[in-house]
Amino acid sequence: MEIKIFEDAAALGLAAAEIFANQIKAKPDCILGLATGASPVPTYTRLIELYKAGEISFKDVSTFNLDEYCDLPKNDKNSYYTFMHENLFDHVDIKEENVHILNGNAEDTAREAADFDKAMAEAGGVDIQLLGIGNNGHIGFNEPADAFTTGTFKVQLTESTLQANSRYFDENPMPHYALTMGVGSIMSAKKIVLIATGAAKAQVIYDTVKGSVTPQVPASILQNHADCILLFDKAAASKL
Ligand code: PGA
Repeated sequence: MEIKIFEDAAALGLAAAEIFANQIKAKPDCILGLATGASPVPTYTRLIELYKAGEISFKDVSTFNLDEYCDLPKNDKNSYYTFMHENLFDHVDIKEENVHILNGNAEDTAREAADFDKAMAEAGGVDIQLLGIGNNGHIGFNEPADAFTTGTFKVQLTESTLQANSRYFDENPMPHYALTMGVGSIMSAKKIVLIATGAAKAQVIYDTVKGSVTPQVPASILQNHADCILLFDKAAASKL
């Protein structure tokens, strides 16, 4: 794992966006794996700027998002469908048919998950995957567990994740289930970029980088990935 430490979240966002922009320049029809949450927002803001400056185009880019809540209307303000459109897709020239976000309201969630993995494989696999990390070490919504997960599946969210994300929910209660790429799906990306900021992540970053590889800290499996870059601000890296 390659580690880079930045002064703050803004500087980290610029660097992460540069990695993604370079991928798009090198392969205009690349497959991006994308993430939601607070961490990627500066990265997406910078990618929009680069698009508006004419430096990159998303017209041939395809995307696969890590996860989506179950039992939340697609257009709810807290759905990841809404998040991705508000924070990136509505501001660039990506084609809607090239956007892949799991349908958390699918009647047959197992089928939805299998179809998603199939579409990802048929597209040639993810070239570069962006990841945040939960305070409990989750990547996507792969929560601490007794075994690493494999493909995309329906997961029950843990108390830690409910606490971390419930601040966003006021009208509709926070869902307790989500569909998520499995750890195996995430690890199949050719390159992975994990970003983390803030002192609240310092312990889990230490466990991810210095601890043993364990499903109790799902992100620790990244130690086994051949091409993984970790970008931290000083606060998140403070225990390394
Ligand atoms: P955050 O979430 O970027 O909002 O901290 C990261 C995550 O839970 O994966």
